[in-house]
Amino acid sequence: MGWRASGLALACIVAGVAGPAAAGEPAGPALIPRPVSVQQCDGAFALEASTGILHSPVAEPAARRLQAALAEVTGLSLPLGPLDSGAARAIRLELGGPGAGPEAYRLDVDPARITLEASDAAGLFYAGQTLVQLLSRAGEPGSWALPCVRVRDAPRFPWRGLMLDCSRTFQSLDYLRRTIDRMAFYKMNVLHLHLTDDQGWRLEIRSHPELTERGARFPDHWNEPSTHHGHYTQAQMRELIRYAADRSVTIVPEIEMPGHSLAALAVLPALSCSGGPFEIHPFFEGPHIHEDIYCAGNDETFRFLEDVLGEVIDLFPSELIHVGGDEAPKGRWETCPKCQARMRAEGLEDEEELQSWFIERLGPFVESRGKRIIGWDEILQGGLPAGAAVMSWRGIEGGIAAAQSGHDVVMSPTSHCYFDYTYERIDTRHAYAYEPVPEELDAAQGRHILGVQANFWSHINREPDEVDTQIFPRLLAIAERGWSPEGARSWEDFRRRVEAHLPRLRAMGIRYHEDAAVMPPGGGDSDLP
Ligand code: ACM
Ligand code: ZN
Repeated sequence: MGWRASGLALACIVAGVAGPAAAGEPAGPALIPRPVSVQQCDGAFALEASTGILHSPVAEPAARRLQAALAEVTGLSLPLGPLDSGAARAIRLELGGPGAGPEAYRLDVDPARITLEASDAAGLFYAGQTLVQLLSRAGEPGSWALPCVRVRDAPRFPWRGLMLDCSRTFQSLDYLRRTIDRMAFYKMNVLHLHLTDDQGWRLEIRSHPELTERGARFPDHWNEPSTHHGHYTQAQMRELIRYAADRSVTIVPEIEMPGHSLAALAVLPALSCSGGPFEIHPFFEGPHIHEDIYCAGNDETFRFLEDVLGEVIDLFPSELIHVGGDEAPKGRWETCPKCQARMRAEGLEDEEELQSWFIERLGPFVESRGKRIIGWDEILQGGLPAGAAVMSWRGIEGGIAAAQSGHDVVMSPTSHCYFDYTYERIDTRHAYAYEPVPEELDAAQGRHILGVQANFWSHINREPDEVDTQIFPRLLAIAERGWSPEGARSWEDFRRRVEAHLPRLRAMGIRYHEDAAVMPPGGGDSDLP
């Protein structure tokens, strides 16, 4: 972290944003997530239509993205140019500076120049996001200024995620793109898409077109709105993956197994233990957890899942491929002759071991394609493939056990990270209080905690505005817990910054919840500062 040692300019002071804000300490700019260090200096940089964005050839994509982001807020389309153009009063983007770790950056705003520097594209992108957050209106209408600052910043965790359930309710590509923009603005970098469940199969699989021809819509008699049906073609998903990558967001696909698979079994009932038939239904019109799951005794099940996972692996660049694994009732396996024969042949004690065997059977296939499995914490029961990672949701115990046995972990416990829950149960303050590294772990085990993720299940709140309301503003708390240093935690300082961001949320078209923990009654309705 050589950058942190750089000299202090005399006219700079460490702002409250860099450490827990104490009474009388300067408040600091309203940056979310809170950077590692911010020094506020005298003066400001006035942004003008002639201000150039200068970049080296490799930094051109980041320069274009910053140009677009600044245009969106200010309406100004700043000219791009090479670093050696000699232009005065420019914004300079420099990639390949001193190594400070993945996604790290430095941002210096002086009255005459702005410098963004990082050793990777993600860091440069985040420097730009911080710059946009620093923008505020200057005195004259239409003029914009940036306060002079020195920001040194790097994330605490490599995984700062949001899961959207696109199966219970289809989410449009437009909504997914908007969500990616919002995540990126708050330096979140993993969008986990729950693409299959009992209510719908949402991803085109070319070897099994019937999955989306019949598995992506509710039967007509349920009179579901047309927006609740649908699927993504592989071409659309490829485009979305590129859109996300341009904003430093990785899309992690989830294909659920062995449970939560009714949409597939309605189309391919021979892959169940009983043979069906089954019908897709809205969540509240049938069992919330279906007894019918993929048959573990049928080799066809694994041929099918390898077809599916093979296409998923070819499509998604993500190293981790999510295979679900949660809430799989074992009643059908207990009475299925094929499943029981499998248990005898493999010497398995019980159906929990059969679930482990199920996941382990797919592990070598996934690993042979250069990927790793991640699954909900149930995949721990009975053992899991050596390279597999665990998403701890039923609490933190699964995450603790996984990290203690050397597996990587993403923490997303229902207690703090389930944003389909009401604000009475998890308000922004409660989400902000979450600490992703359990105290039970020693330092080496703690390094297995990849990060933290908010989960949104779409069975209750189904329309885009309602999803927004469930997610915002508490997603900002998870963004900060994923990025900011462990010790930099002050609820009152964070609350103040969230309140300052409400006009930005409105400007982004976000319908946020008026969380009493965060805002005064009425929620404020001012414009951008
Ligand atoms: C889950 O919430 N069933 C992972
Ligand atoms: Zn079976």
